[in-house]
Amino acid sequence: MSMLPKMIISAEHKKMLDEAVHSELYASDLYKHLSNQVQRLGYLGAAKFFLKESKDELKHYQLHADFQNDVGAVAEIPVVEAMREPIKTFSDAIETAYETELELYNNYKEWYSDASDDPVVQQFLLQFLEIQRTSVGEYGDLLSRINLVDQDKAGMLLIDQELGE
Ligand SMILES: [Fe+2]
Repeated sequence: MSMLPKMIISAEHKKMLDEAVHSELYASDLYKHLSNQVQRLGYLGAAKFFLKESKDELKHYQLHADFQNDVGAVAEIPVVEAMREPIKTFSDAIETAYETELELYNNYKEWYSDASDDPVVQQFLLQFLEIQRTSVGEYGDLLSRINLVDQDKAGMLLIDQELGE
C-alpha cells in the first residue's frame, strides 16, 4: 500500500494560486514579446533588460510550483494567450510593462486578502506584494524618466543604455 501527500489547502485557494501561476507565465511571455519588439526598434539595452525580466517571471512561477508541491497540490500549467499587442515605440513597451505590473499588484493584494483564512497561503503570498510593489515602482521611475526627456531621441537612447547595464 502506498499513499500520496494530501492537499492541505482549500480547493478555492488552489484555484486562486493557479490563476497567479497563469499571471506569472503570462508576464514572462509578455516580456519576451516586449524584448523582441524593442529590439526591432533599435533599443538594444531595453531588449536585454526585458529578457532578464522574462527570466525573473519564471522564477516567480517556480515559487508557485514549489509551494503547491509543498501543500500536496500540483500547479496547473495553462495555455498562455498569444502576444499580439503592437509596440510602436519604446514608451509603448514601458507603459505596457507598467500597466501589467500594476494590474498584478492589485491582483496580489486581492488574493492576499482572500487568503485570510489560511495563514500559510497568506504568508506565501506576502512576498509577492513586495515583488509587485518594487516592480511598479521601477516602471514608474522609468515612466518619469521618459516623461522627463519628453520623447527626445538622445534622451531615450540614454535610458535604453542604462537599462542594458
Ligand atoms: Fe512576477
